[in-house]
Amino acid sequence: MVDTVPLSDSQRNALFDAVDRLRGDCPYHHPLYLGQMLKPPHPIAQLAYTLAMSLNPNNHAYDGGRASSEMEKESVTQLAEMFGWSQHLGHLTSGGTIANFEALWVARELTDSGPLFASEHAHYTHERLSRVLGIPFQKVRGDAKARMDLDHLEQLLKSSHPGTVVATIGTTAFGSVDPLPEIIELCRTYGFRLHADAAYGGYYRLVGGLSEETTRAYEALSDVDSLVVDPHKHGLQPYGCGCVLFQDPDVGRIYRHDSPYTYFTSEKLHLGEISLECSRAGAAAVALWTTMRCFPPTPGGDFAAMLSCCWKAARKLSAFLRSVPELELILEPELDLVVWAVRESTASTSSERAREFFQKASERNLHLALANVPRSLAENRLPRMHWDKSAVTCLRSCLMKPEHLANMPRILDRFQCVLAEFRGS
Ligand SMILES: Cc1ncc(COP(=O)(O)O)c(C=O)c1O
Repeated sequence: MVDTVPLSDSQRNALFDAVDRLRGDCPYHHPLYLGQMLKPPHPIAQLAYTLAMSLNPNNHAYDGGRASSEMEKESVTQLAEMFGWSQHLGHLTSGGTIANFEALWVARELTDSGPLFASEHAHYTHERLSRVLGIPFQKVRGDAKARMDLDHLEQLLKSSHPGTVVATIGTTAFGSVDPLPEIIELCRTYGFRLHADAAYGGYYRLVGGLSEETTRAYEALSDVDSLVVDPHKHGLQPYGCGCVLFQDPDVGRIYRHDSPYTYFTSEKLHLGEISLECSRAGAAAVALWTTMRCFPPTPGGDFAAMLSCCWKAARKLSAFLRSVPELELILEPELDLVVWAVRESTASTSSERAREFFQKASERNLHLALANVPRSLAENRLPRMHWDKSAVTCLRSCLMKPEHLANMPRILDRFQCVLAEFRGS
């Protein structure tokens, strides 16, 4: 681009300065990056986004992005169909937090500000969003598999008026999947509204071979009231692409508002009429639409096969970690996230050693992440450890790139080098 677009010297220098600044980032696209929840957008998504960005449509008012608004509606319909929904109302958002915000806002309107119940392992933004929305938040304990504890949920429901339960379908730290069929049973008894936060894990509905319990939870997604899934996590999209879906299209009435500037040019639905955000990138919709043309979200298709590689890579890494005496796997991975601790005599020294491992790995270009795991979850796995604090810092890996599977020998080789150094330190 620098050679083909006429640029002034100062513009050219600014771009080279930007390149220099970006050098400080991790190589997120590389198979040896298995740290945070990051996945590079597919080249087809990058191309389609760039193509549309040259027009820079805005999917607020219909005439701000006629083609891209239609492409958004079609893409959102495909996502709703992926969850087995025959009807829906929904739209893309700038990300998972805003998508959840809209779902919780609609829930608040429909439950007369009833409380919000979410597991201690739910994304931290639920508690914060409930404060923003002025609704009480009730934290539900996690069980031994980092899923929502059903007994505790029921206990809380008994002493409360009906509100909204958030089931997390793929928690951010562990990839654990809340027991949705059982939560739906409780819903029949206690009559709450049910929202699924599947921002990270939603696309795994397409993947066969997961455990029976996990598969049942995915099947039950057809019965929730609202759902969030993020194409910018597992859907091969650049950042700026979340999605909120409501099963009942009638919730559109809650969004009803007037805008003196926008909704005059067309009788068609302006996406701004059913969204809390005003301007949104039409390019995000074009990228998603084009990607789904190439990789339809269908069970057994190429896209599902790519996801399946991530899950298999996570299992391979866990099998390796189980064979290392100094390390302890905290949970069998349900999806593609793996969390493990360093065996030590106290939680403090284990945490310190985990940070050392993290640092040594990053010096060898093996990029991992860290996570604080509460004692209640880790103590079964680390029975001899003295708990001088309430949580232990563990290592965490997100194996969200299909290439992680083919590169596993290389990844494990790097792990062995890091371990050798770690043992000697
Ligand atoms: C389960 C879950 N929900 C919500 C979010 C927030 O999504 P975003 O970062 O796109 O706002 C995340 C982010 O990791 C997540 O894992």
